[in-house]
Amino acid sequence: PTPVVPAPAAGAKGEAMEALRQRALACTRCANLARARKNVVFGVGNLDASLMFVGEAPGADEDEQGQPFVGRAGQTLTGMIQGMGLTRDQVYIANILKCRPDTPGQALGNRKPTAEEMATCIPFLHEQIDIIQPKVLVALGGTALEGLLHLSGISRLRGQWQTYRGIPLMPTFHPSYLLHREGDGRGGLMTEKRKVWEDLLQVMEKLGLPISEKQRAFFLPRSGSQA
Ligand code: URA
Repeated sequence: PTPVVPAPAAGAKGEAMEALRQRALACTRCANLARARKNVVFGVGNLDASLMFVGEAPGADEDEQGQPFVGRAGQTLTGMIQGMGLTRDQVYIANILKCRPDTPGQALGNRKPTAEEMATCIPFLHEQIDIIQPKVLVALGGTALEGLLHLSGISRLRGQWQTYRGIPLMPTFHPSYLLHREGDGRGGLMTEKRKVWEDLLQVMEKLGLPISEKQRAFFLPRSGSQA
């Protein structure tokens, strides 16, 4: 008889993640969100990823498509990932909330998840991280940092390594923050982009990814340019 071969790690992870995804798709614990949603936005990417990004919650585009970070903030995140020399397929991307925070009476707009919504949904994310076991986590923005570590103060804590259940976690600004700064007329956008990029350089170093001179210089004022 054919010997019973243990399922490869990827297969076991795949089955565990699919079972978890099915539970998330059926979840109605936040009744208002379940009523308003078009899709549950579970997460995407490589189950063997060394690097996992955690955002806040789906927006309208993500709710429409059922995938995290596919709208404008998603384009910025994709650019960040590519800047690191990676593709979205090589990392895993998920959010604190799997459903879009509803905005009753408004077709557009976003709102921050409530503390109760976060507490209700976070077990799904804990399990996703348990399955993937990334080497490094990146918390995108204050909500991700608060959801995973109950820490507040993203401006103060970004760039400083934290630990989530033994996994190094780098807090950085949310891509939406950079998009807001782009349009708010305050200037200093390059400085804020550079801060995020320096956080990601730390992540690359931690992961042992190659870093070129060009990558080191991203978002720095070009030498010789006028201040
Ligand atoms: N912002 C997030 O935090 N997550 C998404 O998936 C999209 C936008």
